[in-house]
Amino acid sequence: MAKTNLIVGLDVGSGKMTAIAAAHDADTNTLKVLTGRSALCRGLKGGMVSDIRETSTAVSALLGSIERECSQNIGQLFVGVRGAHLASFSSHGTYNISRPDKEIVQEDMALAIENAKAVPIKNDNEIVSVIPQGYAVDKQTGINNPEGMEGSLLEVDVQIITGATTHLNNLAKAIQRPGYRIDGTFYGLIPLAESVLTADEKENGAMVLDFGGETISVAIYIGGILRFSCDISYGCDILTSDLSRVLRTPRKAAKEIKEKYGVVHPDFLKQDIEISVPLLDGSSTRPVKTSELLNCIQPRMEELLEKVEYYASMSGYKTKNLPLVGVITGGGSIMPGLPTLCMNVLGLKEVRRGYVQRDLITSDEEYFSPLYSTAMALTIYSSDGANLDDMGSYEQGGSMADKITKFFKGLFG
Ligand SMILES: Nc1ncnc2c1ncn2[C@@H]1O[C@H](COP(=O)(O)OP(=O)(O)O)[C@@H](O)[C@H]1O
Ligand SMILES: [Mg+2]
Repeated sequence: MAKTNLIVGLDVGSGKMTAIAAAHDADTNTLKVLTGRSALCRGLKGGMVSDIRETSTAVSALLGSIERECSQNIGQLFVGVRGAHLASFSSHGTYNISRPDKEIVQEDMALAIENAKAVPIKNDNEIVSVIPQGYAVDKQTGINNPEGMEGSLLEVDVQIITGATTHLNNLAKAIQRPGYRIDGTFYGLIPLAESVLTADEKENGAMVLDFGGETISVAIYIGGILRFSCDISYGCDILTSDLSRVLRTPRKAAKEIKEKYGVVHPDFLKQDIEISVPLLDGSSTRPVKTSELLNCIQPRMEELLEKVEYYASMSGYKTKNLPLVGVITGGGSIMPGLPTLCMNVLGLKEVRRGYVQRDLITSDEEYFSPLYSTAMALTIYSSDGANLDDMGSYEQGGSMADKITKFFKGLFG
């Protein structure tokens, strides 16, 4: 494929894929979104491939349409994976600097990280991402970027994300089959969290909740560092199934009704209006009050949030004991009242909807939507990390905007 500057972030979701295509804008020295698209894919379940052929066809249609719209081939493709097969844990790496000058260079940092990766990993699993959390130089801790410092012993704390090799390979095969090359595979939640949280939120404590169709992803930051992440294999499509069953309406209608009239908290039920719900016979309808929808949706969403709390508490960072702020994103986060419900069930101090920070990328307003957040974050985060190393690891230190500028300086002189 010809070398072009088209950078694509591909968010592999539940039953669909979402892509954002961006390019470097030389005038403003920023990353600019050219287009965004989403394609349904029956070959995906909860972010995992259940049918390679179906997934390949969807990838080909989605990425092909982007290339045609932008009139260029994709130069770099970054894929965000998810699913309950992903696991995260902390590790520690050390590296002795034996050179006489003792000045730490990027290679030393990479070798310390490499040593942190030397840990036992579950059979049939592999490392997806290694995220440096902070360095220590000669036992002085809390160093974000030790490059240029002097020292003999360099230490690094990292979060390692692993995933099931078979799932990762199946996805790679499905993307490569139509001829696309993958330049990096990431755990989609991390770029997302990095793009929607402010530095102060990460420092003071924040929980990011990404409400997808078949998964809810949770990331917890405390003291500026990612402490915990997980994908729970339940998502907001379950609300669609409930409505379809309770209202005896086709799934498609249930989804439309949920997205148009659904609320998860009574304070957000502005008017208890009557709507006309199509029945399974395909011809008749029956009237249903929107309060009936609330009665179906609220308890189920509470149950989903209780699962979130269960997993989060297993991480050792009990939400109720910490003044965490919540940031919600993903398609399911659009539902009115969800911030309030999250505060009530998870004991979060305050909850806001998360959007990719606008200083990180230039884009038409429509792509600053929870539906595109992960794909957009992938283009930002991955294009930044692409020239650093080939480990899928992220650079620590500096704002993301600084890092992007640095990356593009490197690329375009
Ligand atoms: N306006 C809306 N109100 C409520 N839920 C929505 C809305 N738009 C999308 N959703 C729900 O969000 C879920 C999909 O989230 P999304 O992040 O797009 O999916 P993915 O799992 O692929 O990441 C679906 O359950 C969908 O019905
Ligand atoms: Mg999503």
